[in-house]
Amino acid sequence: MRDAYIVTSLRTPGCRRSKGAFQDTRPEDLLSFILDAAVAKTPNLEKKDVEDIMVGCSFPEAEQGLNIGRIAGQIAGFPAEVSGATVNRFCSSGLEAIAQACLRVMAGWSEVTIGGGLESMTYVPMGGNLPRPHPEFSRQQADLYVSMGITAENVANRYKVSRPEQDEFAYRSQMKAAEAQKKGLFTEIVPTPAARFVLTPAGTYAKETFIQDFDDGVRASTTLEGLAKLRPVFAANGSVTAGNSSQTTDGAAAAIVMSEAKVKALGLKPLAKLKAYTTVGCRADEMGVGPRYAIPKVLQLAGVDLKDVGLFEINEAFASQAIYCIRELGIDPAKVNPNGGAIALGHPLGCTGAKLCATLLRNMRERGVRYGVESMCIGGGMGAAALFELCD
Ligand SMILES: CC(C)(COP(=O)(O)OP(=O)(O)OC[C@H]1O[C@@H](n2cnc3c(N)ncnc32)[C@H](O)[C@@H]1OP(=O)(O)O)[C@@H](O)C(=O)NCCC(=O)NCCS
Repeated sequence: MRDAYIVTSLRTPGCRRSKGAFQDTRPEDLLSFILDAAVAKTPNLEKKDVEDIMVGCSFPEAEQGLNIGRIAGQIAGFPAEVSGATVNRFCSSGLEAIAQACLRVMAGWSEVTIGGGLESMTYVPMGGNLPRPHPEFSRQQADLYVSMGITAENVANRYKVSRPEQDEFAYRSQMKAAEAQKKGLFTEIVPTPAARFVLTPAGTYAKETFIQDFDDGVRASTTLEGLAKLRPVFAANGSVTAGNSSQTTDGAAAAIVMSEAKVKALGLKPLAKLKAYTTVGCRADEMGVGPRYAIPKVLQLAGVDLKDVGLFEINEAFASQAIYCIRELGIDPAKVNPNGGAIALGHPLGCTGAKLCATLLRNMRERGVRYGVESMCIGGGMGAAALFELCD
């Protein structure tokens, strides 16, 4: 197979569901903006060069339904010949989309593709607008439909991850993110137009646009004492709180993928190659353990040793599961989520895989790290992991 090169990987800011900057920005607008920006920021690339746009979305319905991959491509002004699709693997959807975009190039079936992700958790709530579990099967295997928070409680209880450990992890995520914001390290963010409705003197509402250029869920004022006071949200005697869970968030991200021939023809300097991608199933009622199995699997596929991986982006769906996976794999915490994770920056479900790719590649490049791994747990009981290799 050929190599697939990621030449551009960018994201919008991640903004708080219903309370943040994108609460009145339609998901189509977020996604079409970042698709347009990704092409614009790739020298010599034209929209007509792209063959297909694959977009991850966890609840592809309502405003982000009807094949958002196609609709957003058209809103962004790609020619009619540029096809588009939507892919769903819940929290790894954005990474799945990038992997599929890469596979198409690796197989020799395309020269340029886009993989991306989107979720407006404001417009489409987690679980969707009208969840309808199978009436008999849901009794037989109710765990497949269980709340993600309960799976986090199960991981904490079964694998003995204490409340203080979870709060400490959450605190560190917030502090790393706040520090990275202060230092201007989120250079993978493209300042993004957001809509708001303002009351006019006539008593009607007018739509205005403003530019949002930062993740608005970061709480720099977080303290360990404050976190310790929060009540558990999913189980009465539990340990999972709003402070040590990922935030529900709106956002979009996109990566441009190319063959070596196209990279050369356009005279580009690629960021990284996708070396390997994999997924693995696990028990649905402890879905958070997914990365613990997906990471060794992807490394084995690529023949790369864990100790040779310089950076990890492991999605912080919940502190309990992230701590468990990092601990079980013996990963040096200093190599994980150096600019904070989803507890501080948010987890816009279907976008997250593409968002973490943008963050990981940016950090690998800044630090000259050869191998980087991105991984996440997935609702229903799965893990996904990808290994990227920095280009010289
Ligand atoms: C846990 C959850 C239900 C909380 O939702 P929420 O109530 O909307 O969360 P918020 O961020 O608004 O936090 C609620 C309150 O907790 C407190 N809080 C949150 N983080 C805090 C922190 N770091 N320090 C102190 N207080 C904090 C605040 O009082 C906050 O209210 P405020 O924003 O008005 O100040 C939601 O974030 C969630 O469902 N997360 C998991 C998402 C998920 O399952 N994703 C899929 C994973 S597989």
